[in-house]
Amino acid sequence: MITVIGSGRVGATTAAMLGLLGIDNKIVLIDIVKGLPQGEALDLNHMSSILGLDVYYVGSNDNADMRGSDLVIVTAGLARKPGMTREQLLGQNADIVYGIGKDIAKYAPDSVVILTTNPLDAMTYVMWKATGFPRERVIGFSGVLDGGRLAFYAGQKLGISPASIIPIVLGQHGESMFPVPSKSFVYGVPLDKLLKPEEIKEVVDETVKAGARITELRGFSSNWGPGAGVALMAKAVKRDERRALIASVVLKGEYGVTDVPVEVPVVLGRGGAVKVLEVELGAEEKAKFAQSVEAIRKLLNSLPDKYR
Ligand code: 2OP
Repeated sequence: MITVIGSGRVGATTAAMLGLLGIDNKIVLIDIVKGLPQGEALDLNHMSSILGLDVYYVGSNDNADMRGSDLVIVTAGLARKPGMTREQLLGQNADIVYGIGKDIAKYAPDSVVILTTNPLDAMTYVMWKATGFPRERVIGFSGVLDGGRLAFYAGQKLGISPASIIPIVLGQHGESMFPVPSKSFVYGVPLDKLLKPEEIKEVVDETVKAGARITELRGFSSNWGPGAGVALMAKAVKRDERRALIASVVLKGEYGVTDVPVEVPVVLGRGGAVKVLEVELGAEEKAKFAQSVEAIRKLLNSLPDKYR
């Protein structure tokens, strides 16, 4: 059983993708808005019936209904509006994530948690503190999204399928995100050997600004990319795939960083992020990575004491 907390666009899209990929046969949707998760569950059950899927959706307004879940996906919280940065959501979303974290510790104490709430890295920290779970079981989503975007933009320029690219994006899921072309490979060939410097710059810029671009174009933030990425992570956890993907986890000395959630490649399996992989960086890259970590640390320092 998987619970998805937050039945907005990202929550509902994630729930649909979980069903379409056949990841579990019971998915509980929870939201504080009366009727919303129930309505989404009903619509999703109709989808399931039409496509002949082996999945049943339940909608609820009560966090206690996550009982029995081995995976809890948290998409709750406010999303940014056009012109906003992710960082501006800090105050309001910290409160929401902290409360949900306490309930997860109570009702699903052995679960793995994947969350998408922005500002992602700071919210991963708040969730880690609220649940008291080991860092392996509190995983911030977005590396898969940022990496997917990098692969998309690079693939467009190269005329190569994004599926042939293993993208590396490190650091913050925010303004100081750090895509790393020299470590993103097309079957052994790094992107910076395949693209000209100005093309690399364009690909990096497009990747960093992708979320804001979607929000600006249609007036609300992304859901298809996030839904797909979270479902991929959920599959890796539920099926114990031990698949390497990028996610935000609290580092414990890796990359010279301690107690700060940072996007890095991790191995995902039943226990959550069971291993952190350390990408070897050049001197300039190390400086950029450090800058990105500093931006996250700054946000953490601005959190009220009760969340730290
Ligand atoms: C994005 O990058 C909203 O953070 C999300 O699209």
